[in-house]
Amino acid sequence: MENFTVYNPTKVVFGKNVITQLSRTVLKFGKNVLLVYGMGSIKANGIYKEVIAQLHKAGVKVVEYSGIKPNPVVDDVKLATDLGIEKGIDVIVAVGGGSVIDSAKIISLCIPGNLDGWDVMKVNVKPVSAIPLITVLTLAATGTEMNCYAVLQNNKTREKTGFGNDLAFPKYSFLDPRYTFTVPAEQTAYGVVDMIAHALEGFFGYGECTLTDHFTGSIIKQAMHYGRLALKEPCNYNYRANLMWAATCALNGMTSYGRTSADWGPHDIGHILSFLYDTPHGASLSIAYPAWLKLQRTRIPHRIKDLGKLLFSTNSINQTIGKFEEYFSQINCPVRLSEIGIGSDKKNEILSLMIRNKVNGFVHKLNKADYEKILNLMK
Ligand code: NZQ
Ligand code: ZN
Repeated sequence: MENFTVYNPTKVVFGKNVITQLSRTVLKFGKNVLLVYGMGSIKANGIYKEVIAQLHKAGVKVVEYSGIKPNPVVDDVKLATDLGIEKGIDVIVAVGGGSVIDSAKIISLCIPGNLDGWDVMKVNVKPVSAIPLITVLTLAATGTEMNCYAVLQNNKTREKTGFGNDLAFPKYSFLDPRYTFTVPAEQTAYGVVDMIAHALEGFFGYGECTLTDHFTGSIIKQAMHYGRLALKEPCNYNYRANLMWAATCALNGMTSYGRTSADWGPHDIGHILSFLYDTPHGASLSIAYPAWLKLQRTRIPHRIKDLGKLLFSTNSINQTIGKFEEYFSQINCPVRLSEIGIGSDKKNEILSLMIRNKVNGFVHKLNKADYEKILNLMK
């Protein structure tokens, strides 16, 4: 087991109707709120109304920044930062999935020093403070509600990249599983793949800790089980609640206890697909992860065997990888590029962006020859 530090200051408030605590929570931090949300799902499903009612009850001033896109771009962070500075906002409420919350994290870091979002992402500048961030989660997937990471895309530099800083932990996150009842089937399934992928990134990190392996295995089993059930019965509270909590635990630190690092190679590959083809994050992973596992078959056979034993009671590496492919396909997620209309003619385009963005894992290093192999395995 490697040395490690546990730090997670986010207060998670989980369950039915927890939104009723928003009004008094927001007042702990300020009176001028920047409300950040996406393309409108919260208006269609009524979550917006409930959030606004709470903010009115608190008697705070509210400025809105909406239109954050899935696979969010840094340009929105810039516009929202300018708005936040102009209006003198002192607290941010982000309502949505990973795209909205990640954008809000970087906005919260940019406002105090009028920083550039991309400079923050690339660690060219170091923020020294952050506007307090409260999140209201509407989609079970990324775990951003209880971690300090954000992922953004920059169309000018042609990158989609991740970032982490202790200042980016939300102060509070409100998780009402009922808010995920309206998540469409395909987005629910992408979320399931994402939480499984996060657990796997931890599992293939550096350092051995059997207790953490068991946490990780349980998260994956729960995600697979409740994912299937929630797709059949989207408005079942118990199914959605278990899924939501699995997503949070898959990336709130606990899958990395006893390790120095997770891997993140498959995520890096997935980000290339999302950048080039706007592939939803989970769909990029259901294609990238099986290919990455196949590449690692002969390099880390013992670890893939450990995983197979933990999850599927098998010693067979091929069977283990096959089980993931089978599950992803059963929940209608793509496992090959051809299934999302990306043909062999795109090979060079993908390869050159992989080279340019130096796609890699932290632990299991990838070189150009590996990129070619992975591309062949994904096609
Ligand atoms: O735009 P809105 O209206 O919000 O609609 C969204 C969007 O179309 C919709 N949606 C969300 N909640 C809904 C809903 N529709 C109906 N009912 C609801 N309750 O779902 C669509 C996808 O939303 P998005 O926020 O993009 O999805 P997700 O939560 O999967 O976030 C993906 C982003 O997070 C990053 C990804 O790279 C991607 O950019 N990640 C962030 C991580 C982190 N911060 O720790 C780690 C992850 O590995 C990931 O990279
Ligand atoms: Zn992810």
